[in-house]
Amino acid sequence: MFQSDEPRDSIEGEVFYPMKQVTKNATVQEYERLYQESLRDPQTFWGERAGELDWFRKWDQVLDESNPPFYKWFVGGKTNIVYNALDRHLKTFRKNKLALIWEGEPGDTRTYSYFSLNREVCKFSNVLRSMGVKKGDIVTIYLPRIPEQVIAMLACAKIGAPHSVVYGGFSVEALAERIEDAQSRVLITADGGWLRGKTVELKNIADEALARQPTIESCIVVKRTGQDIYMEPGRDYWYHDLMSLPISTNSCQTEAMDAEDPLFVLYTSGTTGRPKGVVHTHGGYMVYTYTTFKYVFDIKDEDRWWCAADPGWITGHSYIVYAPLLNGATSFLYEGAPNHPYPNRWWRMIENYGVTILYTAPTAIRGLMRFGDAWANRHDLSSLRLLGSVGEPINPEAWKWYFNVIGRGNCPIMDTWWQTETGGFMISPLPITPLKPGSATRPFFGIDVDVINEEGAPVAAGEEGYLVVNKPWPGMLRTVYRDPDRYVQQYWTKFPGRYQTGDSARKDKDGYMWIIGRMDDVIKVSGYRLGTAEVESALVSHQAVAEAAAIGVPHELKGNAIHAYVILRNNVTGSDRLAEELRNHVAHEIGPIARPETVTFVDTLPKTRSGKIMRRLLRARALGQPEGDVSTLED
Ligand code: PRX
Repeated sequence: MFQSDEPRDSIEGEVFYPMKQVTKNATVQEYERLYQESLRDPQTFWGERAGELDWFRKWDQVLDESNPPFYKWFVGGKTNIVYNALDRHLKTFRKNKLALIWEGEPGDTRTYSYFSLNREVCKFSNVLRSMGVKKGDIVTIYLPRIPEQVIAMLACAKIGAPHSVVYGGFSVEALAERIEDAQSRVLITADGGWLRGKTVELKNIADEALARQPTIESCIVVKRTGQDIYMEPGRDYWYHDLMSLPISTNSCQTEAMDAEDPLFVLYTSGTTGRPKGVVHTHGGYMVYTYTTFKYVFDIKDEDRWWCAADPGWITGHSYIVYAPLLNGATSFLYEGAPNHPYPNRWWRMIENYGVTILYTAPTAIRGLMRFGDAWANRHDLSSLRLLGSVGEPINPEAWKWYFNVIGRGNCPIMDTWWQTETGGFMISPLPITPLKPGSATRPFFGIDVDVINEEGAPVAAGEEGYLVVNKPWPGMLRTVYRDPDRYVQQYWTKFPGRYQTGDSARKDKDGYMWIIGRMDDVIKVSGYRLGTAEVESALVSHQAVAEAAAIGVPHELKGNAIHAYVILRNNVTGSDRLAEELRNHVAHEIGPIARPETVTFVDTLPKTRSGKIMRRLLRARALGQPEGDVSTLED
């Protein structure tokens, strides 16, 4: 049954039409008319959506455009995202509904109802307040994928302290520079976490980062693995000790925040230099994540939602922590590796917990596909009704495997395109949308996107160009922390008045969007976002290295792999051992995800006359492609 308002025959290419069992109860039953309406009058659209949530004081103005690109949403409104994520559900039947089901890699489990999650959050908020954390202080969180990560984030938000979550797979330098930029005085970490049957040395890494970083005064340590760690007297405290103190009572006032007050800072890789702190707010981010989740994943009270990302990335912030709770949903969270102890781990958990919607990244799908169909076929996956994909373009082969083998041909795939900066889904199907494998389909309501050329003019259908967003939206980043110039420069300068995504894309004649990839020096490795500059600076921090260049080269499983080119210092000779040492050095400084696939020793690097490394040329050479315009190359 075809329910979309577009006539079936007009769509070109390979199209999968939505199934009746999915569309019949979908929250949104038509796209085109509602989309056009939302574009004509975005303020009414977003004002109505905001009205579905609770505010301590209603906004005076939906959007303030008086000082672009520093847009403000729901100006004058007062709320707190945690009030809407937790407090308000306690007055309804959801009080005793499960908010979070968690399974650790070793197989231990924990569950939290809205009531008990709120209790833990209140306790931990009181702990943070007793340690002197005040509204506006940035707290750094460096934890494995355990419930305390969710609790810590919510506790910070509740008392108005923006959180800065550092992904637990990051390492010493990555953690140290994020703490430094945020000037955090409190760090929340754990002794370790489980991954592939081994423990990750989180506290040891944190200790090393803290030795480089003097701003931290207190470090709260969750006991997860029980491994031996060092606890610095007067600085390090066990989480469980603090939570059992008499101050940790079960109630705590939720701070009333201005809609535009920062909710969190999340560092992400950019084109140059150090990661930038993307700032999101209590008001706009709340309305945006709430709405996108409700419409795209059509969430219902009986669903069991599983976003298999890490809360430490934007996907986890928005769609593990905030959007599901804002919608009163039940989320599943898993600590460890998808193939531990066997490649059926995910499928077994879907069967076990009755997961109804799975949202993951193409790299994970490709990784699991590699083990063959039998692992999935052993399990009853009939609870699934929708699937989701995020982080990089999904190749049609992986799409079809996901659709046929995991979804058993019954579950449409929501391929959601968005970014750390956008807060939530920007281009995505709805359950009613006819799908084309590999396309994120159409823009979300209120989102005005274009594909344009260097001069800013729209390119013809099917042609590649810069993907831009023409109008502000509530979930957009507000600035780069402590660096508003970088915010303007990076996102709003190349095409004045438009948000530059950094991606290239094509729009086909049906208006379907095909994301091609980054046009800048950002590399997506297994869906993780890394900057060439970060990898290069980690390489140069090694005593043997004089200069380095890093590029992304297509990789079957990871999407892209990092290839590094290194000029050694005088008197140092390259060897396989040194190459291995350099790869490990990058992993130690940034994290295992940044470990270069190859390190090649070279005598020179191709540079422009102004001294910039021509990574484009390195990439062309690595791929055996034409070198293109080399007129700016120095001799
Ligand atoms: O290149 C796009 C790619 O991921 C980038 C954003 O990365 P990050 O900020 O880490 O956020 C990832 C999760 C939201 C984008 O610029 N990307 C994200 N989703 C897709 C995608 N590329 C193609 N298809 C997608 N669905």
